[in-house]
Amino acid sequence: MNILITGSAGFIGYHLCNKLLKNNHKVYGLDNLNSYYDVRLKKNRISLLKKFKNFFFFKIDICNKNQIDRIIKKNKIRYIVHLAAQAGVRYSITNPDVYFKNNVEGFFNIINIAKENNIKHFVFASSSSVYGNKNQFPISENSSSDFPLSFYGATKKSNEVMAYSYSSIFNIPTTSLRFFTVYGPFGRPDMSLFKFTKNIIEGKKIDLFNNGNHIRDFSYVDDVINGIVLILDKPSNKKIPYNCFNIGNSKPKKLKSYLNEIENNVGRKAKIRHKPLQKGDVVKTHSDINKIKKFAKYSPNTDIRIGIKNFVDWYKSYFNIVN
Ligand SMILES: NC(=O)c1ccc[n+]([C@@H]2O[C@H](COP(=O)([O-])OP(=O)(O)OC[C@H]3O[C@@H](n4cnc5c(N)ncnc54)[C@H](O)[C@@H]3O)[C@@H](O)[C@H]2O)c1
Repeated sequence: MNILITGSAGFIGYHLCNKLLKNNHKVYGLDNLNSYYDVRLKKNRISLLKKFKNFFFFKIDICNKNQIDRIIKKNKIRYIVHLAAQAGVRYSITNPDVYFKNNVEGFFNIINIAKENNIKHFVFASSSSVYGNKNQFPISENSSSDFPLSFYGATKKSNEVMAYSYSSIFNIPTTSLRFFTVYGPFGRPDMSLFKFTKNIIEGKKIDLFNNGNHIRDFSYVDDVINGIVLILDKPSNKKIPYNCFNIGNSKPKKLKSYLNEIENNVGRKAKIRHKPLQKGDVVKTHSDINKIKKFAKYSPNTDIRIGIKNFVDWYKSYFNIVN
C-alpha cells in the first residue's frame, strides 16, 4: 500500500512508519518539525526512517493543502493515518490557539484532502482525553465523551464529530483511535516517563502531581502500533462508514508505582516536589478494549515492567549515559 502518515517525525508516527516500512509498504511521511519539544529528537527519528528506501519525507505543515494534495495525487496514495497534532493536555490550558490551528483547522484540511482524493481509509488519532472525568470503569466507547476536561480533549472530540459527518455525507471510511497514555522508546520529552527518567538520572527534582495518585492506562507503543496496523485495512463497512475504538492496555497503574518501576530501572530514587492536581488533568483512565479486540483481534501484551525497562535502556543508550 502507499500510505501517508502525518506527524511522522513524532513519537507514535515514527514507530508506525518503522513498522509499515518493515512490512514493505511505501510510506510518505509528513511533518512540520515544530519546536514544541527538542527538534533534534524529531530529526533523528526521520534520519532513521530515511534508511529505508521505501520512505519519503516531506517537511510540510498539515495546513498546506496544495502541496499535500499534489503528493497524494502524484504517488497514488489511498490510505492516510493522521497523527499530526498539538499533543499534551497541560499546554492546552495556556495555548488553546495552537490547538485550534493544528488540531481543528489542520484536521479539517487533511480530511478535505481525503475526501477529494478517494481515500480508502482515513484513520486518525483521537485521545482518551475526550472522556473527561469518569466514575465507572473500564471506559467503553459508548461512555459519554461530551464533557472533556481540557481544550486538547475538546479538539479531539471535534475531530471525531467532523469525521462522522464526512463519513455520513461523503461516504469516506474514517476511523478514530482513542489512544490511552502511550509510552515507550523515543517517547515524548513532555511526558512523565521521559521527564522522570531524565531528572532522576540528572539528580534533579521531579514534579509529582496529586501525590502520584493519578491512575493511567499506560499503553506500550508497540502494542498501539499493532492496533493501528490491524485497523488500517479494516475500514467500517456500515452504511455510515465511521468507526471509533479505544486503544489502550486495559491494565491501569498508579503513577506512583510507574515511578517506582522507573527508579528500579535507573537504579536511583527520585527527589520529589509535590504539586496539587492540575487543571484539565483527569484522575483515572482505564480503557475497555473489547470492541477493538473483537473487530481486529487486538491483543496488547507488553507488561509495564518490560515497557519501562525498554524505555530506560533506550534513554541511556540514546544519550550515551554510562553507569
Ligand atoms: N502519546 C500519547 O500518549 C497520545 C495519547 C493520545 C493521543 N495522542 C495523539 O496521537 C498523535 C501522535 O502523538 P505523539 O505522542 O506521537 O505526539 P508528537 O508530538 O510526538 O507527534 C506529533 C507530530 O506532529 C507534528 N505536527 C504537529 N503539528 C503539525 C502541523 N501543523 N503540520 C505538520 N506536522 C505537525 C509534530 O511536529 C510532531 O512531530 C497526536 O495526534 C496526539 O494528540 C497521543
